[in-house]
Amino acid sequence: MNIIQVQDYEEMSEQGAEFLFREIMSGRSKVIGLATGGTPVGLYKHLVEKINANEVSLTDVHTVNLDEYIGLSDDHPNSYHQYMFQNLFQYIDIPSANRHLPSGTAADFSEECRRYERLIQQLGGVDTQLLGIGANGHIAFNEPGSPFDGRTRVVDLAPATIEANSRYFNEGETVPSQAVTMGIGTIMESGRIVMIASGKEKAAAVKEMLTGEVTEDCPATVLQKHDDVTLIADAEALSEI
Ligand code: GLP
Repeated sequence: MNIIQVQDYEEMSEQGAEFLFREIMSGRSKVIGLATGGTPVGLYKHLVEKINANEVSLTDVHTVNLDEYIGLSDDHPNSYHQYMFQNLFQYIDIPSANRHLPSGTAADFSEECRRYERLIQQLGGVDTQLLGIGANGHIAFNEPGSPFDGRTRVVDLAPATIEANSRYFNEGETVPSQAVTMGIGTIMESGRIVMIASGKEKAAAVKEMLTGEVTEDCPATVLQKHDDVTLIADAEALSEI
């Protein structure tokens, strides 16, 4: 794994944006896998700045998000559909038909998961996948115990993940307990992976990912088996290495 150590969140965001920007500009990556959560917010801000400063058109780029909460409609403020619109899509010209996320309100979730897998295949696979990491080592919504060969499916969220993500919800509002997520098998088929990590609450998971035994108990350890992964992490996230 290629590790880029940076000072802090700001530098991680700038370097992560530069990584994706270069992928897009080179023409190498036409299908970009995107992530949500608190970590990529700064990256998207820098990416928008770079795209707009260079007057880059992205009409031939497709984006494929990792996951969506079950039960939240596309326009729910806490849905990942809205997150992507607020942080990225509203500022750039990727056509709406090219922005792909799983639906959180499908009538038939088995079919929705199959549709999403088919879509990724039809696009020719993900060229570059952006990832964050959960404090328990989850990637996308693949919690500890998720199969390494898993495909897009419905999952239950770990109590720790529900707790961590509750900070984005209003008091009294129920945090979804399930999600549709790309599987680890799906993610591992990406041509290239770039993970960003910041803060000391990620340090144990980052250490396990880099130096631990490759085991489904810590989903991120699977990345040791991918041959093109770049980790951009700040000093706090790397503090246990
Ligand atoms: C969420 C997302 C993941 C994300 C992770 C870390 O549950 N499904 O894709 O990487 O948790 O989130 P954060 O960046 O907010 O710490």
